[in-house]
Amino acid sequence: MSIRPIICLPDPRLRQVCAPVGSVDDETRALMDDMLETMYDAPGIGLAAIQIAVLRRVVVMDVSGKDDPPAPMFLINPEIVWSSEETNVHEEGCLSIPDYYEEVTRPARVRARFLDRNGAPQEIEADGLLATCIQHEIDHLNGVLFIDHISRLKRERAIKKFAKAAAKRAEEGM
Ligand code: NI
Repeated sequence: MSIRPIICLPDPRLRQVCAPVGSVDDETRALMDDMLETMYDAPGIGLAAIQIAVLRRVVVMDVSGKDDPPAPMFLINPEIVWSSEETNVHEEGCLSIPDYYEEVTRPARVRARFLDRNGAPQEIEADGLLATCIQHEIDHLNGVLFIDHISRLKRERAIKKFAKAAAKRAEEGM
């Protein structure tokens, strides 16, 4: 296992649509192990492969509380098959948009289908933080970021701020 670099806004790769995984093999599992280690190190509660510049439909998550034992989840080719009319507001952040948080409104409950670590089909119904996290991560696979769900003014401000910081880093040769 190894920690991989996380790509950040405004990296254009974050806007790509990821390709489905054909078969869940040892290579996929090795990728997920790296992703999990990278996520725990960051630390974060969810990471999509695209965030380490691998354009495949693979997600790892762990929404267990900090006093609970780790509960890693591996979602391959995940898709939302049902979402509630009822919505919920959660403050969201993203490892690819560091130190930036905004409230996002999303369906409160969703049902998702995916392949697990062994390639077996699974379906779960989620609410609360898990529902938010699943929707946030599946968005990543379609090149969508949580800032796409906030007001245009706030989004443009955030993009500008991160573009400026990236330009400054480039200038300083970092
Ligand atoms: Ni994210």
